[in-house]
Amino acid sequence: MAAIDSNESAIETFKRNHPDVSVAMVKDLTKFAPKELDEVLGSQRVDVIVGGPPCQGFSKARQVGGSNHGERLVYDPRRELYREFLKFVTYYQPKVFVMENVPGIRSAAGGEFFTAVQADSRELGYRVIPFEALAWRFGVPQKRVRQLIIGTRRELPVFIPARYIRATHVDPGEAVPKGMQPHMTLGEAIGDLPEVLAGDERHVREYDIDLRRQHVKRYGRRYTYNVLQAHKARNLLGHAARPHSDRDKRDFMRLREGETSRAAIARGVEMEFPYDREHFKDRYTRQHRDQLCSTIVAHLKKDGLMFIHPTQTRSLTPREAARVQSFPDTFEFPQERTKAYSEIGNAVPPLVGKAVGLAVAEYLAQPAMTDAVTRSLNANLPLSQELAVTELEAFVESMVMKDLTQLPKAEFLKAWWAVGYLHPNLHPDAAMDNGKELSPGPKRGVSFVLEPYYVRSGWPVELIPLAREARRRFDAKVLAEEEYYCSVAVIAGAAAKDRVR
Ligand SMILES: C[S@@+](CC[C@H](N)C(=O)[O-])C[C@H]1O[C@@H](n2cnc3c(N)ncnc32)[C@H](O)[C@@H]1O
Repeated sequence: MAAIDSNESAIETFKRNHPDVSVAMVKDLTKFAPKELDEVLGSQRVDVIVGGPPCQGFSKARQVGGSNHGERLVYDPRRELYREFLKFVTYYQPKVFVMENVPGIRSAAGGEFFTAVQADSRELGYRVIPFEALAWRFGVPQKRVRQLIIGTRRELPVFIPARYIRATHVDPGEAVPKGMQPHMTLGEAIGDLPEVLAGDERHVREYDIDLRRQHVKRYGRRYTYNVLQAHKARNLLGHAARPHSDRDKRDFMRLREGETSRAAIARGVEMEFPYDREHFKDRYTRQHRDQLCSTIVAHLKKDGLMFIHPTQTRSLTPREAARVQSFPDTFEFPQERTKAYSEIGNAVPPLVGKAVGLAVAEYLAQPAMTDAVTRSLNANLPLSQELAVTELEAFVESMVMKDLTQLPKAEFLKAWWAVGYLHPNLHPDAAMDNGKELSPGPKRGVSFVLEPYYVRSGWPVELIPLAREARRRFDAKVLAEEEYYCSVAVIAGAAAKDRVR
């Protein structure tokens, strides 16, 4: 296993907390080639690559001149870290990759980043599926939402997010079915920590064992012990409160629990900080004990004004922020405040990482299906890619006059599996998230069951009604999971494509 980041302090923190990982390197990935990593890893196979390439650099500029005038995107390799990420994917051909990003990548640069990542990954032989991770569904007491893009080699079974990535907690306000838990709250995450005053920046202190006892009596052990492992930490580290100006502190005291300064002003409170009543932007938020905390961000290193403690006159300490991210108390961050906040805010919450990691492990532990097995499982598959095209063309043409919803299951499945066989790098769930951009075409001599396709999802336009109907039947439980995701067909199709190549 190897970990890479260009930030020296982040790697130091990683090493201190994961002494068992032998390779942790400070490298700028724009200047570090996979071959160089090979020298360190030796002959180790790389099955999984995980990373969070920032999307800020994604360029919207278009190339001018040349035959593709105004059509092609201009790529700035220094600024597009996702390409560096994909370079490692190209080199190692891992079975799975997971890319993490902020939800904004859906719309960044007009959605082009989100589309390009998926289109480029498919080019490399991966079947990709975006997955929106809602942190609270995994027991994190926070409103954090992150966009994951999960890619699996197209010759492997379809990765089914809903099957493998198991949520454990429900949405706020939702009824709690058996086997699930209500969402975690900020109060449960930090309520056992001793009170500190703004400006008391001691890094090491003692726990208040009595307070913890009362806390556990009220909430149980599920967070304090099971997640935070507070009983295993010798000292309480990083519960250090930054100073605030007297004016800020007086303003904090004017806020009710869970209130923003905007809401306080709206109910007639006079705040002291100078603000323009016309164009007023929120300055403070006091968090609420019984709710999810706002998304912990690296900006906390600059100020903590959006993260005022529910009952104390100060912003959240690094330890409190780490707890809101589900880091155990045994996890040590740098003493330097700015570094600690930025590492905590940049992180994927451990509980989310764990859920996704377990999902990938479970997915990879499935026994591989051979071509012969898949064929014996289903004699209904087309015999070749060409036949799949012919069958599908005939099917789509015949459906023009018919109602797809009325088709007998066997007939529908034959066509649906032909789609899987012909397009092993498409993910059924992605057909619901196509974006608008279409591939050029249809080109002469190319079938309409291949082109034009949506660049984001890769789905041919003419096959979308089939995908929609398949989803409808799956949701209505008319199709079983295996029938809908049709791994048997896609694996056979990928093998057929490989034979042709
Ligand atoms: C969203 S954070 C993800 C942090 C951590 N890997 C995790 O998953 O919890 C993005 C990380 O990318 C790192 N980074 C940014 N540019 C980089 C580059 N050129 N080479 C290597 N790492 C880079 C940042 O230092 C930051 O730690």
